[in-house]
Amino acid sequence: MRLIFLGAPGAGKGTQAEMICRDFSIVQLSTGDTLRANVRVHTELGAKAKKYMDEGSLVPDQIIIDMIAGELTKPELANGYLLDGFPRTVPQAEALDTLLIDLNQKIDAALVLDVPEEELVGRLTARRTCRTCSKSYHIIYNPPKVAGICDLDGGELYQRDDDKEEPIRHRLQVFHSKTMPLIEYYHSKGMLRTIDGMGKIEDIYKRIFTKK
Ligand code: AP5
Repeated sequence: MRLIFLGAPGAGKGTQAEMICRDFSIVQLSTGDTLRANVRVHTELGAKAKKYMDEGSLVPDQIIIDMIAGELTKPELANGYLLDGFPRTVPQAEALDTLLIDLNQKIDAALVLDVPEEELVGRLTARRTCRTCSKSYHIIYNPPKVAGICDLDGGELYQRDDDKEEPIRHRLQVFHSKTMPLIEYYHSKGMLRTIDGMGKIEDIYKRIFTKK
């Protein structure tokens, strides 16, 4: 199974992706997590990406395309993968199409989680993320068992720099201008499935796998 997850910042892509990848034994490829890991250990890629990420802008397309091209050939992806946060622009989607032809692979579906804007802001300002494994929590709706500590690995939970009000508003604007055109891109290819992203996390998960 190969999937693309589209959806605004805070729509729940990472939350649902983790559950899908666990249950179907496929690999979650989150461009945001990979970039943050590079920033954390001060790689050249991390240094290039940091200023864009902190202000809530997109990292330039070619940097992201090169990063994903390196990932897609890895043998551990043989059982399938879920692209969480990629593609985010039309040039990225076109580059992915070319990579898929070279790899002789097809994507099964592009899933969009549909969530109203004010809910997104509330989710992001209340998000806490594990420094070690990147799992995300919501301090009210999806809290860790022990405050400030990741359930999975005991890592410290922190608030991302881009989860403050100003970068959040900017990320939402960028989503509308750069990523929304992908909805039409995948719709025109017959690959798009829109899922209501409101309600309980478990109910949304069930909706993803309910045929309409
Ligand atoms: P990235 O890390 O991908 O951030 P994002 O797209 O903004 O997505 P988020 O991780 O913020 O949200 P999510 O949809 O995964 O929500 P989550 O499940 O955590 O990217 C960060 C930056 O990296 C970008 O701004 C850019 O600079 C760069 N970047 C990354 N990819 C790039 C690309 N392809 N091109 C260029 N630049 C790129 O949920 C959010 C919160 O809500 C959590 O607290 C969660 O617990 C809670 N929650 C989830 N579901 C529910 C629910 N049903 N009800 C209540 N709360 C819920």
